[in-house]
Amino acid sequence: MLLKNMIKRSDMISCCLCKDAPCSDACPFINTVKVLRHVWFDNEDIAALELDDNPCINCDGQCEDACVKKGKVHIKGIIEKLINEVRPKAEIDIPVDYSRLKCDICGIEIENPFLLSSSVVASTYDMCARAFEAGWAGACFKTICSFDIHEASPRFSAITGDNGSIVGFKNIEQLSDHSVAENMEIFRRLKEKYPSKFILASIMGQYEEEWENLARLCEENGADAIELNFSCPNMQEDGLGSDIGQIPELVEKYTRAAKRGTKIPVIAKLTPNVASMSPAAEAAISGGADGIAAINTIKSVMGVNPFSYVSAPAVKGKSAIGGYSGLAVKPIALRFISELGQNTKMKGKHISGMGGIETWRDSLEFILMGSGSIQITTAVMQYGYRIIDDLKDGLNYYLAQMGIGSVKDIIGAGLDSVSETTDVLDRDSVLFPKFDIVRCIGCGRCVISCDDGGHQAIRFENRIPKLDGSRCVGCHLCMLVCPCDAIYPAEKRIQR
Ligand SMILES: Cc1cc2nc3c(=O)[nH]c(=O)nc-3n(C[C@H](O)[C@H](O)[C@H](O)COP(=O)(O)O)c2cc1C
Repeated sequence: MLLKNMIKRSDMISCCLCKDAPCSDACPFINTVKVLRHVWFDNEDIAALELDDNPCINCDGQCEDACVKKGKVHIKGIIEKLINEVRPKAEIDIPVDYSRLKCDICGIEIENPFLLSSSVVASTYDMCARAFEAGWAGACFKTICSFDIHEASPRFSAITGDNGSIVGFKNIEQLSDHSVAENMEIFRRLKEKYPSKFILASIMGQYEEEWENLARLCEENGADAIELNFSCPNMQEDGLGSDIGQIPELVEKYTRAAKRGTKIPVIAKLTPNVASMSPAAEAAISGGADGIAAINTIKSVMGVNPFSYVSAPAVKGKSAIGGYSGLAVKPIALRFISELGQNTKMKGKHISGMGGIETWRDSLEFILMGSGSIQITTAVMQYGYRIIDDLKDGLNYYLAQMGIGSVKDIIGAGLDSVSETTDVLDRDSVLFPKFDIVRCIGCGRCVISCDDGGHQAIRFENRIPKLDGSRCVGCHLCMLVCPCDAIYPAEKRIQR
């Protein structure tokens, strides 16, 4: 398993990861879409190891002909690369034992760390049941409340990347539009059919009694734990949602109220729309919370239409500030998770991390920063419940490869590396970039960026980049802009 994938998502630029993929139907030998999904979701080794030796030998590419993008995805080339370049570098066989993934939420065992987060993806019996069947360890159900919910249309907007996939996602969705009684019935049925799956009941009340009663009802109807939604940016009237999470006194008061109503664990879900999460987290702990969940969505405006001047999603000529989620928010989420993980008052408390997680590698980052469980919405909205296969397979493979017996052993293992400020860092040495001239295609992007955004340290001679060590400050901008991964950090730092 390499730090950088040998096949990038951009190499699969046109792949739609289709439902009932015609490429797979056309191939008698390989489940091609499974291979492509492994590659897409950071599981190259597993994709390579699952292939037979020469699966494409007697075939002239029916998969590519059947592709909905009509031959634009070079499936055969990807499979060849997996067999010839990736497989020889794989260090272990695919492990069959998944017990390394077992962990717990506040002492209650879960089969793996992955839960659906509270949102539309966990809003009906049928949806949760399908997710459980697919392999999710549990679900945080769509926030239950006793308010009248009428959603707007449309309610989503997105920023997409070069390959068309969603990078950042905005929603103006509110809470569950089922009655409390309907949701309680769903809990009862889910718990009866899936006793080992973890049901985290997300609630939002308006008064102390309401928080207390909702918590009590959820426990009575089968929830394993309660998540207090102090953070929905789309519910701001009368001190609801995001506003609660910004006021530690309210967080403490309503946590205490919910704890009065229940004996099962209570987790406070906090807002990232603050400078620091510690005041609200500490208030939740003082109120009796057993853990913290973060992050909810980030307040945002996007997609201002150049003709109507209305931002997106536009509802009859108007829009509103809404919650931003998906891959783009991951660094912000990780920053808050690390802040919680480093807070000594959080010792022994569960952290359920979320915000932009798509792959097992994303999840691993959250675990290393202190998350004991992982929740996901936007990636499920984009790719479906099926991503659980690659989340589990990839994390399990990584743990086996690293010789780590349990995912629990690495919770918070990366926290010591994070400093709140940059002034503790060494400033007396430089790590130069190294150019791999074989991989370099001579585009000169590194030269442009170094000239105009760096220190004019790369010369371009016959379309070959040459480093001027006397000018290079080792900022690594060249590495980040290189489109073909031809620039690496040198092995050793040089003292200035
Ligand atoms: C469409 C949508 C609806 C959501 N509804 C809720 C909700 O009802 N309650 C809640 O606590 N969070 C809600 N969230 C926030 C998610 O649970 C999650 O905290 C956030 O989206 C970050 O994770 P992600 O990047 O994996 O989506 C919603 C998010 C989205 C995109």
